[in-house]
Amino acid sequence: MPVYSDGLGLDVTAASGEAASAFGSTVEGYVRFTRDVGDRLKDTLTADPDMPLAHVTKGYFMKLFGTGAMSVRAEKALGTATDLFARVDTTDREKGHLAALGAWCAGDIEGAAEAWERILLDAPRDMLALRLAHFAHFYAGSGARMRDSVARVMHAWDRSHPLYGNLIGMYGFGLEEAGDYRKGERYAREAVEIDPKDAWSVHAVAHVMEMEGRHREGIDWIKGLEPHWSTVHNFRFHVWWHRALFHLERYELDEVMALYDAQVASDLEADQYLDVVNAAALLWRLELYGMQVGPERWAQLADLAKKHLDDHELIFVSLHYLMALLGAGRMTDAAEMIEKLRAYAEDAATRDQTQARITRKVGLALAEAMSAIRSGNPARAVSLIWPLRYDIQSIGGSHAQRDVFEEMLVDASLKGGETAKARALLSERTEKKPNSAWSWERYGEALTASGLDASAASARATELRSAH
Ligand SMILES: [Fe+2]
Repeated sequence: MPVYSDGLGLDVTAASGEAASAFGSTVEGYVRFTRDVGDRLKDTLTADPDMPLAHVTKGYFMKLFGTGAMSVRAEKALGTATDLFARVDTTDREKGHLAALGAWCAGDIEGAAEAWERILLDAPRDMLALRLAHFAHFYAGSGARMRDSVARVMHAWDRSHPLYGNLIGMYGFGLEEAGDYRKGERYAREAVEIDPKDAWSVHAVAHVMEMEGRHREGIDWIKGLEPHWSTVHNFRFHVWWHRALFHLERYELDEVMALYDAQVASDLEADQYLDVVNAAALLWRLELYGMQVGPERWAQLADLAKKHLDDHELIFVSLHYLMALLGAGRMTDAAEMIEKLRAYAEDAATRDQTQARITRKVGLALAEAMSAIRSGNPARAVSLIWPLRYDIQSIGGSHAQRDVFEEMLVDASLKGGETAKARALLSERTEKKPNSAWSWERYGEALTASGLDASAASARATELRSAH
C-alpha cells in the first residue's frame, strides 16, 4: 500500500492522498478540540475504509471516552487494525501506534505511553503520539513527564508547522504542572497569540493564575478570550470550571452557582466524564465554602454516576463519580461503587493494570475517606488521607483539580477534632496559597481551636474577602 503526506509533515499508509489528508485533518481536529473531530475520522474511513492508522486512531478515540462500553469498541477497532497490519505493509511509526493501542486496551497505560515516546524518538513531529503521551502523563499526575515529553521534540518543530502553537501550549501546561510558572505562562501566552481558539493553552495560562492566586486576573483572562475558546468541544466547560473556581476563591458564590447551572453542568446529557468531574468537584467545593447547593443538582450528577459503577478506566474519574453519589446521599450506591473498585483493583486479571495499581495504592483510601466524611466520621477520613498526601498526585489530573482532596482533608481535620494536623496543614497551605481567603479563615479556626491567637489569620481572611 502506498504512503501519502498527511499534510502535517508525516507519511501515512493510505489508499489515496485524499484519505491521508483527511487523516491529517482528524489529527488536527483532535489536537484543536474541534467539535467535528468524529466526523473527520469518519471522512477518513470513508475515503479509505482499510487505512491502518485510521483504525488505530478510532481505537484511541474510543479509549479517550474513558468508559467500559467505549473500551469494548476500542478493542474491536484494535482487532480490525491488527488484521489490516497483518495484510498491509506499514511504516514503523504506524506499527508503534498499533502497539500503543494494544497496551492501552490491555490496561497498560504506562506501556502505551512508552510506545508513544518510542515513536517520538524517530518521528518527533508525530502530534498524535505527542498529544496522547501528554494525556497519559497527565493521568499519571506527572508534570515533569508532560514538560519533558514536549521539550524532547522541540528540536524538530518551527513556526511553519500548523500545530506549532498547540505544541508550545502543551509545553506551557507541562511547565506549569511541573511548577515553572514563569516559563509556563510565557509559552502558553505565545500559543494563545498564535491561536486564541487554542483552549488547552488558554487554560494553561489560567492554571498558572490559579496556582499563583491571581483570581481577578484569571477571570479577566478567561472572559476576554471567551469568544474564541468557547467554540471548542466539551472541553470548554472545563474552562468555565476554571473561571468558576476563580469566583469561588473570591467568595462570589452566587456567581459560581450561576456559572454551574448555565455552563459547567449545562451538557451533562452528553455523558462526558470531564463534565462530571468539573461539576462534582465544584459542588463539593461550594459546600466546603458554606454554600447550600441543593439536592437536585447532586441528584442529577448521581443519576449519571450510577451508569458508570463498572467503569474503571481512570480512578481519578471514578472518584468524581463517587463524589456525586455521596453528595446526593446515595450511600448504598456509593458502597457498591467502592466494593466494585476494590474487586477491580484486586482481581487477578486486572490487578497489574496501571489504574488497578493506583486504585489499590491511593484510590480506595480516598474513596473510603470521602465516604467517611459523608457518613459523619471526618476523623477516619483524616487517618486515611494523611499518610497518602504525597501519593495523591498519582491519581492524575492537575494540581488545581486534585486540590479538592486537600481541601477535604483540611475540612475533615477541623471537623474531626484533629487540631494539630489542621493547624499544620493550614500553616502549609497559607504559605502555598497566600491569597486564599478560605485557607486563612480555616487557619484562624485551627488556631482558635488550639488556644492560640488567631487574630492575624482572621484579619488576613477578612482583608482578602473585602478586597473584592
Ligand atoms: Fe484545568
